[in-house]
Amino acid sequence: MNSIFSDRISDVPKSFIREILKVAVDEEVISFAGGLPNRDLFPVEALKMATEIVFEKTGPAALQYSNSEGSVELRKFISDRYNKKFSLDIPIENILITSGSQQGLDLLGKTFLNEGDDIIIEEPGYLGAIQAFSVYKSRFNPVKVHDDGMDIIALKNVFPGRSPKLIYTVPNFQNPSGISYSEENRNHVADVLKNKKIILIEDDPYGDLRYTGQPKSSFRQILPDKTIMLGSFSKTVVPGFRLGWIVAPNEIYEKLLIAKQASDLHTNQFAQCVMAEYLAMGNFDEHIALIKEVYNKQREAMVNSIKKHLPENISFTHPEGGMFLWITLPDNISSMKLFDIAIKNKVAFVPGNPFYIGKTETNTLRLNFSNVDEATIEVGIKRLGLAIKELVILG
Ligand SMILES: Cc1ncc(COP(=O)(O)O)c(C=O)c1O
Repeated sequence: MNSIFSDRISDVPKSFIREILKVAVDEEVISFAGGLPNRDLFPVEALKMATEIVFEKTGPAALQYSNSEGSVELRKFISDRYNKKFSLDIPIENILITSGSQQGLDLLGKTFLNEGDDIIIEEPGYLGAIQAFSVYKSRFNPVKVHDDGMDIIALKNVFPGRSPKLIYTVPNFQNPSGISYSEENRNHVADVLKNKKIILIEDDPYGDLRYTGQPKSSFRQILPDKTIMLGSFSKTVVPGFRLGWIVAPNEIYEKLLIAKQASDLHTNQFAQCVMAEYLAMGNFDEHIALIKEVYNKQREAMVNSIKKHLPENISFTHPEGGMFLWITLPDNISSMKLFDIAIKNKVAFVPGNPFYIGKTETNTLRLNFSNVDEATIEVGIKRLGLAIKELVILG
């Protein structure tokens, strides 16, 4: 009998991380597996105040249906911030508020991808994007990323045979690897794409969380007609509000708006009102500075613990920002096998597999440093070091 479920959904893999997090629920397990911001830093009191102001000022209108584009105040805030940061001129008419940037990925898939359409993604790449685009049955063309960005030769090599419609990038403090594209690499990527009919998606949820190094250009500055930007308040304020946005040129915006209406009419109006009120209080930059101070210490604690407790024949990225770093084990060590031993040793991470297309064995793994305090990071990395030793001894 034919399946009652659509091919679209039957072929999409389950979220591997969600499955893994089920194993890591034991309270004694130190988890570097999730991608959670540190909840101790959520601006709870300020959001409580903002909520009260919304009820006083806006009353029932904050609970009514609203327009699909999203709150004018929020879009104005986002546009001003971009325009100041990158000397751009993005009008609010090009900003669409979404239910997290994850919805942005879904809307882009819905708007651009027919079954079998080619899309370029990073390898390793953000798992949530792989899942979102899989729903539209696109064909993935993974291009390796290195410490300084995309492999330009591999990127060029996609084109003789294929005509990808989209290229998906996370150029700042990438999830999962923590790497960032250098300025030079961004320019090389733009050179390869400039005469092609392709849209570049710049997904940048971590861009404000820079701890060292110089800020980099946005692709919107280098490839203005081809770039769509995705942003999010999940890492800078709270993920639970599910507030993100897309910046797109007019003709694309119109299509995205239809996709948005078909999906959910509009993003949660109450959350938008509270966020707009919170931002109007004027403490956003101070709040980001606090997050950066804490995460930077946690990042350093992780790097120092790795140097101290992991064998010398592993390599790791030293991200300039964001929430993740990436470990490469010696060739013959499977990160899946390591995961089983690590869980017994009460430490969890995400094995590299789900960040690649069609790889079942990898020697890489992702570690999150935003959600564990400095002292616990050292204990966890020590356990990981013991797990690696055990695996090497077991062969
Ligand atoms: C690269 C990237 N894009 C998008 C998202 C989704 O974020 P949001 O909470 O805005 O949906 C994440 C979340 O971890 C991410 O790492």
